[in-house]
Amino acid sequence: MFKVTPYRPGAGLAPRYLAGRDEDIENITQIFEALTMGIPTQSIVFSGLRGVGKTVLLNKLQQIAEENEIFCQYIEIEDSNNFISKIAACSQIFLRQVSAIEKFRNLVSKPLEALKSLVISFDPDASTFSLSIQDRELYQSGNLTQSLTEVFTTMGETAYKTNTPICFFIDEIQYMRQKELGSLIAALHRTNQLGYPIMIIGAGLPKIYKMLSDEKSYSERLFMYKEIGSLTENQSKRAIEIPAKQFGVSYTESAIAKITDITDGYPFFIQQLCQVVFQRAEKNPIDIDDVEDSIPEFFSTLDIGFFKVRYERCSEMDKKFIFAMVKCGELPCTISNVANNMNKSVSSISTIRAQLINKGIIYPVRYKELDFTVPQFDGFIKRLDEYKQWCEEVDKLKADK
Ligand SMILES: Nc1ncnc2c1ncn2[C@@H]1O[C@H](COP(=O)(O)OP(=O)(O)OP(=O)(O)O)[C@@H](O)[C@H]1O
Ligand SMILES: [Mg+2]
Repeated sequence: MFKVTPYRPGAGLAPRYLAGRDEDIENITQIFEALTMGIPTQSIVFSGLRGVGKTVLLNKLQQIAEENEIFCQYIEIEDSNNFISKIAACSQIFLRQVSAIEKFRNLVSKPLEALKSLVISFDPDASTFSLSIQDRELYQSGNLTQSLTEVFTTMGETAYKTNTPICFFIDEIQYMRQKELGSLIAALHRTNQLGYPIMIIGAGLPKIYKMLSDEKSYSERLFMYKEIGSLTENQSKRAIEIPAKQFGVSYTESAIAKITDITDGYPFFIQQLCQVVFQRAEKNPIDIDDVEDSIPEFFSTLDIGFFKVRYERCSEMDKKFIFAMVKCGELPCTISNVANNMNKSVSSISTIRAQLINKGIIYPVRYKELDFTVPQFDGFIKRLDEYKQWCEEVDKLKADK
């Protein structure tokens, strides 16, 4: 029978108890306070693996910012790459809000002009502004950095004069084009120099670190870069216990230890496993045997959902590459070991590597090493018949040589 549970496995679903992020929340609350006092602040980028809790943290911070009367907009970049159209739409909402107040109405014309130029030049599908051909030429710009900087500085000036600080929350920031990221950094930098209250809080996969550091030397000063990871034992315990407590249910210490062990403290896995355990358990407190009984269902739920959606985005060649990574035995692995397992040269597989990084399935760790962006993805691959068959074929080929 379906039983309501206090756990919330799912992309961006706010948990009933947000574990282990108190320090980040505290620090950023202080930054918001500075922003509302008109003090220019550093922007922030969170990075972490799939399901570690980036989106829910962003949402929580947005809630706090809104309580501080900061103008907030949430943007999710998709692999279809829609940064310009989204930032333009959000800027427009800001300007509409400002112009609703009679005494500020005259402050929107400058940023609106800048926005027009940005949209007309870099968002060809947009139909927001209809202009004559002659006017169109007037607004056309060939330089994204310049256009975006114009939008940010004029918006910043309006934000300053109207006492309405702005914070854009940009999720899946790794899907931005490198060129767009560069322009965004430059625009933000200029706005900061002028002392205008605009900041960004971004979140993305670990490859974002390299994207940022490849960009501009000052991006390190502009952004506070923060990795978020799995929960510690103590934090996991709270993530497991607190939601259940509200339902009058508790866990034995050994049940908690088992859940923490199986999930490695990954927030999404904790939510998923606890949901299964909570639904199946018939006694209170929940004990280790309830957890053990739930493990097969937990993994099969992940296999047909969380893992499979990622796997299905891979081409046949991508899958071979992934198999070869898993066959390395230990992760992160080197590209030369992957090539060796595929019986190919490193240069011949480098485009597959790039493709998998673009799709957000793998990411480069340190120098020349690779790992999955999805925790425990290797365990999922090992359970696949397709992988087992591939291993047999590869081993046979090697033995025949
Ligand atoms: N600090 C936390 N404490 C408890 N549960 C959490 C925490 N952070 C996230 N979760 C849970 O983990 C799941 C995944 O969270 P979220 O979607 O924010 O991850 P993500 O890092 O954005 O993943 P992705 O990279 O796939 O977008 C959700 O079910 C959420 O409820
Ligand atoms: Mg997310």
